[in-house]
Amino acid sequence: MTETIERLRVELGERAYDILVGPRLIERAGGEIAPLMRRRQAVIVTDENVAGHYLAALRDSLSTAGIVNHAVLLPPGEETKDLDHFGRLAEDILAIGIERGTMLVALGGGVVGDIAGFAAATLLRGIDFVQIPTTLLAQVDSSVGGKTAINTAAGKNLLGAFYQPRLVLADTASLATLPRREVRAGYGEIVKYGLIRDADFFQSLEAEGPAVCDLEPAALTRAVMVSCRMKAAIVAADERETGDERALLNFGHTFGHALETETGFGDRLLHGEAVGLGMVLAFDFAVRLGLASGQDSHRVRRHLAAAGLPTELSAIGLSGSAADRLLAHMGKDKKVRDGAITLILPRRIGEVFVVRDTPAEKLRAFLAAAR
Ligand SMILES: NC(=O)c1ccc[n+]([C@@H]2O[C@H](COP(=O)([O-])OP(=O)(O)OC[C@H]3O[C@@H](n4cnc5c(N)ncnc54)[C@H](O)[C@@H]3O)[C@@H](O)[C@H]2O)c1
Ligand SMILES: [Zn+2]
Repeated sequence: MTETIERLRVELGERAYDILVGPRLIERAGGEIAPLMRRRQAVIVTDENVAGHYLAALRDSLSTAGIVNHAVLLPPGEETKDLDHFGRLAEDILAIGIERGTMLVALGGGVVGDIAGFAAATLLRGIDFVQIPTTLLAQVDSSVGGKTAINTAAGKNLLGAFYQPRLVLADTASLATLPRREVRAGYGEIVKYGLIRDADFFQSLEAEGPAVCDLEPAALTRAVMVSCRMKAAIVAADERETGDERALLNFGHTFGHALETETGFGDRLLHGEAVGLGMVLAFDFAVRLGLASGQDSHRVRRHLAAAGLPTELSAIGLSGSAADRLLAHMGKDKKVRDGAITLILPRRIGEVFVVRDTPAEKLRAFLAAAR
């Protein structure tokens, strides 16, 4: 069987790069990366879980392509995205003896991509890096667009940089070892693309969603490609999120980040789950404001629930009594401008828009009544 690798270009002028999507790209990584290198040295950053599955294959592939390679392993989990781990990672990489032409290779989920990307942005004032995302969330979202960051005591992703990779290799076969819950969480971000500006894609997911979540190759590659294409187009139009365009990608995220903060950024609620529930809340709130229809809101909740994602606060052990705390978390969101809460709200499935000056009182009343 011939395996199709799809290729997509992120058009960012001199920072343009390709995204490759398809099975077994890790085994081909050396051949894909070598032409981009200024110096045949690579440092792989990965986490212990991913290393157990794919580090050997990646190192083999790099070595076969004549690339001298080193690996730095991080503990898995969101806790890794902090200043302590970042400091140690930077020291470990520098201790290897890197130069400006060294390539950093981020092998893993969004945690590895974000911390390794930020290391690439800052080491020696910036070295090239490649993303090899191994979670569904990272393949459709975090590896595309050049946002890199770590968390601080003040909040999530508050220390970072816009820094584009030279290449993204989304090996769809690597998802086979990903826990099912992580697959479903990543699927939440796929649904997001349909909701923000492609009603037809959302409709196709209503039919193909189960196949995507079961990692059926054709449906999976299609969903990853549509997602990456949309994110790439939005990023190309608004690389540094100065206009409203790129902010639309934050649909579900202001609510979602508040839920993540409230539940402690841990196993209780994964990022993609928080985004899924955040999108449901955004639809419900939009219905309450008279902006969207209850029918659309219902359809979104039904689809996410069918995919096995939480769609009620009670499902994650929260209730309306958390309203004030959630509102406070939302007030700390980066998307706050001049003190007013900015939300991305839907008009309908396939169309969302930026609402500045969301009346805090209405939002509080809505959250207090949410189940
Ligand atoms: N930069 C961006 O634009 C952006 C966008 C969205 C999310 N993010 C960030 O991404 C992070 C979440 O990323 P994530 O959901 O990928 O989580 P993650 O990186 O923590 O990975 C989830 C878990 O799966 C394991 N894992 C990864 N790949 C595996 C595989 N193929 N087989 C088996 N296990 C595997 C990991 O070790 C980890 O335990 C958050 O920190 C979030 O802030 C960044
Ligand atoms: Zn996200």
